[in-house]
Amino acid sequence: MAEVSFHEVTKVFPNGTTAVEALTCTIADGEFMVLVGPSGCGKTTALRMIAGLEEPTSGAIAIGGEVVNGVSPQDRDIAMVFQSYALYPHKTVLQNLAFGLRQHKMPTAEITERVREVSSLLTLDDLLDRKPAQLSGGQRQRVAMGRALARRPRVYLLDEPLSNLDAQLRTQLRADLKQLHQRFSTTTLYVTHDQVEAMTLGERIGVMSGGKLLQLDTPQEIYRRPANVFVAGFIGSPPMNLLSASAADGHVDAGDLALEVPGAPSGELVVGVRPEALRLPTGAFAAAASRPPPPPPGSRPCPPSGLPSSPGSTRAVSPRWARRSNLGCHWKTCTCSMPRRVSRWPGPSPSPPGAWPDPEDGSDAAGGAAGDDPGVAVRERQRECRRHLGRAGRVGRHRPP
Ligand SMILES: Nc1ncnc2c1ncn2[C@@H]1O[C@H](COP(=O)(O)OP(=O)(O)OP(=O)(O)O)[C@@H](O)[C@H]1O
Ligand SMILES: [Mg+2]
Repeated sequence: MAEVSFHEVTKVFPNGTTAVEALTCTIADGEFMVLVGPSGCGKTTALRMIAGLEEPTSGAIAIGGEVVNGVSPQDRDIAMVFQSYALYPHKTVLQNLAFGLRQHKMPTAEITERVREVSSLLTLDDLLDRKPAQLSGGQRQRVAMGRALARRPRVYLLDEPLSNLDAQLRTQLRADLKQLHQRFSTTTLYVTHDQVEAMTLGERIGVMSGGKLLQLDTPQEIYRRPANVFVAGFIGSPPMNLLSASAADGHVDAGDLALEVPGAPSGELVVGVRPEALRLPTGAFAAAASRPPPPPPGSRPCPPSGLPSSPGSTRAVSPRWARRSNLGCHWKTCTCSMPRRVSRWPGPSPSPPGAWPDPEDGSDAAGGAAGDDPGVAVRERQRECRRHLGRAGRVGRHRPP
């Protein structure tokens, strides 16, 4: 067992990608630490540098107090479960599980005992004679895990070891991993995208983004007191609600949410609210809260004779026409229960299904097919009559051509 520490470690790949930037942290001896972060933030690269598969561009990595920069992977006494499994394709499951133990010249009886233990733990007993190509993704992942667990190294590096397993097996293996860690207390660095895994397994969680370690703390602290907006939005499922707000004299105004926070810094800020922190009001308070708000000053109810046919119009249409035409209420400040009509007839494509043209809007372009609306059809026929007869009155007496 050993402590692992990064000191100002940076990794820049030859193509110029900075995968890890100035990483400084220590994983205590026997600690189970979890690394989380979006894809491409440098988690695997950090693990590979501990394992000796990548050399840091600058900075130092120490295992058990000794700087291991330049030390070959086999001399670091580390077991790693790779994201890509990295099984030996020509060896059977049994040989894959036993490979690391044979390399360390372990007695055959002990190898058999260890392999039996992990194959039973990971339910691999029926697969021991198969080769990796004959296994499913989840089975390969279990073999990769078993190969690491069969060893008793100083440090475990586990790169998304449960990602391909079904939910039931994952939950079971998560519990087994926890138990194994309690039993052997091997220093473990565990990478995952699964927040439940991170919160339940990690003694501490490191949140990375863009190659940088943004926060390293216990799951509770990360959840309750995220260091910045990224961590606040990343940790938690569903995520934290983030509202833009402005604050002055301890009063925080975030739109619909107004808070008194004595000592809050004045200026623009972001308010984070966890969904479970919101309470639905009950009892008398709930009744008061569910009552519609009082009408704004200067508002008027709909005219009793009917609804105005367009905003600002003094002409009223009958309620029947309004209902049939799906007009709704035009009065911006009205408090009636009629659905609010948002805009004038917008044209064919964005119109609400079943909507009718505005009775005052004479243009046919505004209403699509005139045949949809008896009112429009009548007016159209009247216009045709006027054009045909050249007479403005007495339209109804003549048939349109
Ligand atoms: N060999 C390489 N050469 C160049 N760039 C690389 C190499 N390996 C990784 N990278 C880049 O380094 C960055 C970090 O990669 P890394 O594999 O560490 O991410 P990750 O956090 O493990 O992502 P994921 O969650 O998808 O596994 C990425 O932008 C990746 O494209
Ligand atoms: Mg990775």
